[in-house]
Amino acid sequence: MRGALYQYLADDHIRLDLLLQRAVASPGVIDAAPYHEFRKGILRHISMEEKIVLPAIARWQGGRKAAIGERLRLDHGALVALLAPPPTPSIMLTIQSILEVHNELEEREGGFYELFEGLAGDETERMLAQLKSAPPVAVLPNNDKPEVLESAKKVVAMAGHEFKVAS
Ligand SMILES: [Fe+2]
Ligand SMILES: [Fe+2]
Repeated sequence: MRGALYQYLADDHIRLDLLLQRAVASPGVIDAAPYHEFRKGILRHISMEEKIVLPAIARWQGGRKAAIGERLRLDHGALVALLAPPPTPSIMLTIQSILEVHNELEEREGGFYELFEGLAGDETERMLAQLKSAPPVAVLPNNDKPEVLESAKKVVAMAGHEFKVAS
């Protein structure tokens, strides 16, 4: 089922993808303005999914969490960890490859967003308003300590993803 809730979240994927593509448009360098816009935007997007969508699904299912929730949370954790160190082409490539799989899980037929939309019923309008008014997430500056990058790589591996090295 694809209505206003599905569309709002899927449109945010498109917006974020475009920012990511702009950030890496010139080989070997990261364009700071679209990167920071992407970083801010995806942190808010993840927060909407974890603080609004997943709890609503659990509530509508009588306390039973969405089966896909754990998988999505692992990916979110990896994405957030990759946004802590200063961006590099390898980090951006890794983010892109995680998002390719992740967004498909959310958007596909019978996926996360259809589950959300299908359960929302007469709460659709209220949920849409809640998503639209989700506040920005506090964003810390990038941290260039080597251990921040190392721990991001570990979180990526623990989530079952590969840290890609840009050529
Ligand atoms: Fe997500
Ligand atoms: Fe998403």
